Amino acid sequence: MTAAAALKAKPSESKTDSGVAHKERAKLADALSGALADTYLLFLKTQNFHWNVVGPLFYGLHKLTEEQYEDLGESADTLAERIRAIGFLAPGSFAQFSKLSEIKEESGTPTAEEMIKQLVHDNELCAKRFRDVAEAAEEVNDVKTADLLTERIGQHEENAWMLRSLLA
Ligand SMILES: [Fe+2]
Repeated sequence: MTAAAALKAKPSESKTDSGVAHKERAKLADALSGALADTYLLFLKTQNFHWNVVGPLFYGLHKLTEEQYEDLGESADTLAERIRAIGFLAPGSFAQFSKLSEIKEESGTPTAEEMIKQLVHDNELCAKRFRDVAEAAEEVNDVKTADLLTERIGQHEENAWMLRSLLA
């Protein structure tokens, strides 16, 4: 089931008129819901590693993950509010996020190096997946959504670079 089907707009919300057709906004809300789910699960994993990292890389990774999870938390809020602004309900449970996201959760105890490799992979996955959302937004001329996703792609690429630099 798609996020838009699961989160049908209430009757009053179908009156949203942004100049982008309801059908197109529904598709974008689906895509944004995937981006929100990826962001939230990556937020959780990044914070998990912030708490549990040990070893010689502790200080660098503890500090870097703090900056990154704070940004991811703010970004989740912005993505959810964008879904609301285009007339749909935002998913807000871990059950929904798990269905919508491609981020693999970690409940074991990886080494610091393994943590970094996972976070690099996941940030790069977000950058790739968000590119599709940005393109879909551009196609229907939703410049605000496209801008938001473009900014997030840049941030995820920067996150991956900073994490990878810890391993060099
Ligand atoms: Fe902390």
